[in-house]
Amino acid sequence: MRIGFVGTGAITEAMVTGILSGTPLASEVVVSPRNAEIAARLARMFPAVRIAGDNQEIVDASDILVLAIRPQIAEEVVKGLRFVAGQTVISVIAATDRDRLKEWVGQEVDLTQAIPLPFVASHEGVTAIYPPNSKVASLFSSLGTAVQCGTREEYDLLAVASALMATYFGIMGRTTSWLAAKGLPEDSARDYLAALFAGLSQTVLRSNGIPLNELSAEFATKGGLNEQVLVDFEGRGGIAALTEALEGVLRRIRG
Ligand SMILES: NC(=O)c1ccc[n+]([C@@H]2O[C@H](COP(=O)([O-])OP(=O)(O)OC[C@H]3O[C@@H](n4cnc5c(N)ncnc54)[C@H](OP(=O)(O)O)[C@@H]3O)[C@@H](O)[C@H]2O)c1
Repeated sequence: MRIGFVGTGAITEAMVTGILSGTPLASEVVVSPRNAEIAARLARMFPAVRIAGDNQEIVDASDILVLAIRPQIAEEVVKGLRFVAGQTVISVIAATDRDRLKEWVGQEVDLTQAIPLPFVASHEGVTAIYPPNSKVASLFSSLGTAVQCGTREEYDLLAVASALMATYFGIMGRTTSWLAAKGLPEDSARDYLAALFAGLSQTVLRSNGIPLNELSAEFATKGGLNEQVLVDFEGRGGIAALTEALEGVLRRIRG
């Protein structure tokens, strides 16, 4: 199978790394010459990577074509390509309505939208796709987990959830700096927090669906330190700020 990428940026680098690490999932990966540095790095790392001369060459050479460009240039780039009828096309372009994408493609293709995350590189991604598609789900399952969304609403909501990555690292970063300023070596603070958050995520994954507010209550001993942080965070508007930020992203995604 040949997989092509129009747009060789951060997410293409992660996907190609995942696709060609371990047992390769493609016989050939064709990438666009932009970004030149990332394309050259991928070609150096993986002999199965070929850098195309232009975007049309990628469309023509691919059994699965991935559109991985920024939303701002998507219309211009996609409209400039001639797609093959029936071709499998995956768009990872954020916040771009499916109907508009189909209009720009201008051909009856098998179009799936996806939200791959950087950890697909190490086969630990969780990728929302819409609509359900067994071929595309199989690809992303090999790169971690695929979540097939039955409705656009579900897909949009997972897109909102995926916008929490920078804030997650922000919370870790802020706490690490605070601990370091109080005298803990920064590396120890960082390692401790990474293990703490990994343990908490594992607890949720193994909890057999126990409601999260129950877990929160379980971890917030009456009169204890966890309860103090939770009450303080909520009282100072932390939860309200988070909720408003999620609403804002949803408004943006829905246009
Ligand atoms: N990064 C993530 O975690 C992530 C996750 C899910 C979805 N996405 C979505 O995936 C898309 C790509 O994101 P990204 O983070 O990979 O962005 P990025 O790093 O900016 O990559 C986009 C690439 O497109 C290239 N490009 C610009 N004009 C082009 C053209 N005419 N033809 C072909 N390639 C062109 C750029 O090359 P130059 O550098 O030469 O300009 C750049 O390398 C976005 O829509 C983003 O929202 C990203």
